[in-house]
Amino acid sequence: MKNIFVVVGGGRPKGNTMQLVEAFIKGAEEAGHSVEKVSLLKTEVKGCLGCNACRYDKPCIQKDGFNELIPKIKKADLIVFASPLYFWTISSKLKAFIERFYCIAQEDPNPPMGRYEKYPVKDSALLMTSADNFFWTFEQAVSYYQFALVNYIGFHDKGMLLAGGCGDTNGKPQIDQTEHLKKAYEFGKTIYSNSIIQ
Ligand SMILES: Cc1cc2nc3c(=O)[nH]c(=O)nc-3n(C[C@H](O)[C@H](O)[C@H](O)COP(=O)(O)O)c2cc1C
Repeated sequence: MKNIFVVVGGGRPKGNTMQLVEAFIKGAEEAGHSVEKVSLLKTEVKGCLGCNACRYDKPCIQKDGFNELIPKIKKADLIVFASPLYFWTISSKLKAFIERFYCIAQEDPNPPMGRYEKYPVKDSALLMTSADNFFWTFEQAVSYYQFALVNYIGFHDKGMLLAGGCGDTNGKPQIDQTEHLKKAYEFGKTIYSNSIIQ
């Protein structure tokens, strides 16, 4: 059984994204996995300042919630990145969280081409919601996930659930009128028993 760490990059507290996350967690827990969830609405994580203190064995100069998340990142077998689609990509809160991986990178004397340091090797998944539901709606978010998280940091992708057509934020969340919650539950339940990308 796996340790799963779900990072929710904002969205409304009971909105589409949180409902998608909760359905995924229900499935994962029923499959016997241990799940911990953090909302970046409650735990503030600021973006990297590029001061490079961390490259000289100094702690990160940002004083925020990231420090308390480091043990959770290290313990996790799987990190689930969850976000509403904001301006065609992940939320700034989730991006800030990802930027802070810079301070947990380790020196790699022999990095593969295009990578400069080592990161903890983990599985990953992406859960997102949006108002629109075109074939290109999630293109930039998926491109960032695949390029930065999978290709660069080195996560092993376990799949994505891209929940389009959930309605805009000028009204009640509408994800319960779609099939996405059922799919998220199944995704959580089967994430370590098959490798179908959803
Ligand atoms: C600042 C902002 C930007 C958004 N940008 C997009 C967008 O680019 N494309 C889209 O389809 N929906 C966009 N939306 C709609 C949300 O992605 C969608 O309503 C989402 O399900 C909201 O998640 P929540 O209910 O968890 O808050 C945007 C909403 C906000 C508030």
